[in-house]
Amino acid sequence: MEIFISLFFAALAATMAAAEATTTVQSLLDELSTLSNYQPSSILPSRYIHSSYQPTDNPNDYDILADGVVELLQDKELLADLVFRSPPPFKHNTSLAFDLYSELAQEGSTTAHSVLAFLYDTGYNNVVEPHPGLALLHYTFAALSGDAASEMTLGYKHSIGDGAELSCEQAVEWYSRVADAAIDYYLSGPPGGHALPLSKPKLSDLKGGPYGLGASAASTGDNAYRPVIYAGKAKDSGENWHDLIDYFTYAANQGELQYAIRLGNIYYHGSVYTPKLGPADGSGAIPKDFSKAKYWFTRATRKIWQDGLQSDKQKEVSNYTKYLVSIASNALGKMYLRGEGVKLDQSSYQKAYKWFERAHSLQSVEAEYYLGLMYKHGYYVGANQDVAATHFTNAASNGFPEAYVALGNVFLAKGDIVNAIQNYEWAVNLSNSFEGTYRLATLTRDQDCRTSLARFKSVAERGDWLVGDKMWKEASQRWEKAVEWNKDTYGRHEAEAALLTWWRLAEMGYESAQNNVAFILDQDKQRVRLPGYDAPVNQTLAKISLNYWEKSAAQHVLDSNIKAADYHFKGLGTEVDHKKAAELYLSSDSSSLALWNVGWMYEYGLGLPTDLNLAKRYYDLALEVNNQASIPVLLSLIHLYVKSIWQWLSGGGENALLFNFGLKDGMSAREKEERIDSQDAREAVNRVDWMAYEEQGSSSSSGSGQTQEFVDGLLERSNIAGQDDGFQSTTFVIVVVALVAVIWIRNYILERARQRTVDRLTEEISRRAHEQAGHTEQNPQTPAPAPTPTTTPTPTQPSQEGLRHRNYNTHHENDT
Ligand SMILES: *[C@@H]1O[C@H](CO)[C@@H](O)[C@H](O)[C@H]1NC(C)=O
Ligand SMILES: *[C@@H]1O[C@H](CO)[C@@H](O)[C@H](O)[C@H]1NC(C)=O
Ligand SMILES: *[C@@H]1O[C@H](CO)[C@@H](O)[C@H](O)[C@H]1NC(C)=O
Ligand SMILES: *[C@@H]1O[C@H](CO)[C@@H](O)[C@H](O)[C@H]1NC(C)=O
Repeated sequence: MEIFISLFFAALAATMAAAEATTTVQSLLDELSTLSNYQPSSILPSRYIHSSYQPTDNPNDYDILADGVVELLQDKELLADLVFRSPPPFKHNTSLAFDLYSELAQEGSTTAHSVLAFLYDTGYNNVVEPHPGLALLHYTFAALSGDAASEMTLGYKHSIGDGAELSCEQAVEWYSRVADAAIDYYLSGPPGGHALPLSKPKLSDLKGGPYGLGASAASTGDNAYRPVIYAGKAKDSGENWHDLIDYFTYAANQGELQYAIRLGNIYYHGSVYTPKLGPADGSGAIPKDFSKAKYWFTRATRKIWQDGLQSDKQKEVSNYTKYLVSIASNALGKMYLRGEGVKLDQSSYQKAYKWFERAHSLQSVEAEYYLGLMYKHGYYVGANQDVAATHFTNAASNGFPEAYVALGNVFLAKGDIVNAIQNYEWAVNLSNSFEGTYRLATLTRDQDCRTSLARFKSVAERGDWLVGDKMWKEASQRWEKAVEWNKDTYGRHEAEAALLTWWRLAEMGYESAQNNVAFILDQDKQRVRLPGYDAPVNQTLAKISLNYWEKSAAQHVLDSNIKAADYHFKGLGTEVDHKKAAELYLSSDSSSLALWNVGWMYEYGLGLPTDLNLAKRYYDLALEVNNQASIPVLLSLIHLYVKSIWQWLSGGGENALLFNFGLKDGMSAREKEERIDSQDAREAVNRVDWMAYEEQGSSSSSGSGQTQEFVDGLLERSNIAGQDDGFQSTTFVIVVVALVAVIWIRNYILERARQRTVDRLTEEISRRAHEQAGHTEQNPQTPAPAPTPTTTPTPTQPSQEGLRHRNYNTHHENDT
């Protein structure tokens, strides 16, 4: 908390600018001037501070705050920012923010225009009626003064025709401005460009998708191997990255080369999930640490070059060790070339060259590309474009994607557009290359607007160091705080701030942000619906949620499409519309949930004509697609079958056809393959690239022995690696349910039996007592008999003698 406040005021002090006091600010100043002494409780105007704020843990807080408030009041822009999205203990007051920003907009503030635009666009916190026209106006003002967030928002709005005219050309126009800036920034970095920001993990993905693990498309099929899914599982089981890194460190210290490389990569990329190509995964984010990365890479290279760069003496090692050391050498070369964790000078370029050469001698394709870069720019070696081009060609023909970009640039410089395009395309097809995508978008802009638009959007969103990435990080950090503080006042405060930031990102067109907003405001969260029970629905929020499910769905996210269908089916945030729901389910037919719903709608004639054969066919498909049978689907199916049994028992007849498992009128396997959206599949393949690397590492390792097992055990426990077999977990659930049922039935039977015995005995006793009573009259001296014990008598222990005898007998029998 102190950090938050200090940071805030550090930023505040740094950007101080004496703004003219206006009426709102003036009144605050008046309020302050009436204060006699530095009494904390009075210096902080209560309407800016949460009443529960107790800065007892740091007495300096008051001074910091007091200083801050005084400075703040002189800077309207900061004050506006504070009341709009402040950290605690300040209160949010959107209507005050609106007033302040309106004044600021009059004075020409870009930020003010962009905030006002958002408020008019969304009607956030009901401060103004949504007004698309005014929103567009303010966005345009802000965008024309170079506000990248507004440029993206306009691009997105034009691309989908939401609140602005549907126009591919205008969308490209806005997005290309952002993409141009992104590429300029990328190229202004060290050789090879600035490292791309980490990918942005969605909240829903961390839960296995909006329908949970195993039921959502987000966590089934190839998607189950995505780092974010592992990260979510690890988080849920209370694991953190420190544990994982501790074990890697332990293994690396035991001399396991592959773990040293892993650690180097983890610290270098700032993520536990480091792909071979492209940005590292944000779901495994840890702080980057170049000096640790350098330490581990250097250690790894000692396996071959014991004396580092001092001598070229080499140790004989296996081919696999050579492969791993080539990765480490190349990484060291990169760090020396790019000045990462080292000071850049002539000698660092020399070291870079040396390490690239060594990596190249160990067959590193990437090192060949970097050698090309050194020749191209003349670092350490004299600039020589021909040698550079040879290196690029070699690296490219060995499949290193960025080398194609470099070749494309060579052709482009010569004015050979056709060959340039061809090379960029190869780079993009191979690895979704950032620069390659941009070059293609620019070169083909006039030929194919939609494709070009998608490429510019992708570049703008991936290369968002300066705006989107910062906003995303802030939102994620504040969301984490909110989760940590839970129901605390500040927890809600931070959740609201996180939602606000994601909401702005959602308007900028980020699918992950749209997904987060929809997921946070989702009004249909229950997984298993109990009959007659519906959670209370807030239609206002449902409407917003539906809007973003739909926007996310339009960006090819299957689960969001099904969510939108659910909303139409149930009338959340919209009228009940079964027809629309059916259409949406039918368009999401690589999901078993959607297929099942279609079956159900055919069965009951909701939104679709009643057709039991088709219903059956979709139920079958749902089962087939969902080979990782999820619990929700299972429950639905149980429900269905129970219902069928009931209808069959009650003479319904027709529905009994559901039991006809032999009827194979479903689609052919080929038809089904075609259903799987090739785009999604390609993306999934890109995402699992890092796995390939890891597997390559572990499968060819032979001598890793116990440590390997040790770490694998941990991974399995923490679910960070290793496939969670949905089928097994379902089987497990079924077995548990069956066991519980068996135990229950057994207990029930035993209890019944016991009860019967007890009854019988009670009867017996009372009968005897009755008889006794008759006897007693004749012979009162006889005592009443002890009641027969109701428990089964303990079997008599055989005597030692008997045991020995038996043993002897067995022996004897065996002998004969
Ligand atoms: C927000 O600020 C306005 C002044 O613009 C004030 O009237 C209102 O009471 C404030 N709301 C809260 C909740 O403090
Ligand atoms: C190691 O690699 C070299 C050259 O690539 C090859 O000739 C040799 O057979 C490999 N050794 C083993 C044990 O695979
Ligand atoms: C890249 O992939 C696209 C789509 O699959 C294909 O049409 C194109 O020919 C490929 N380009 C190259 C150069 O291979
Ligand atoms: C729905 O949520 C909004 C925003 O939180 C709130 O203002 C409104 O009162 C809620 N409506 C109902 C019916 O609870």
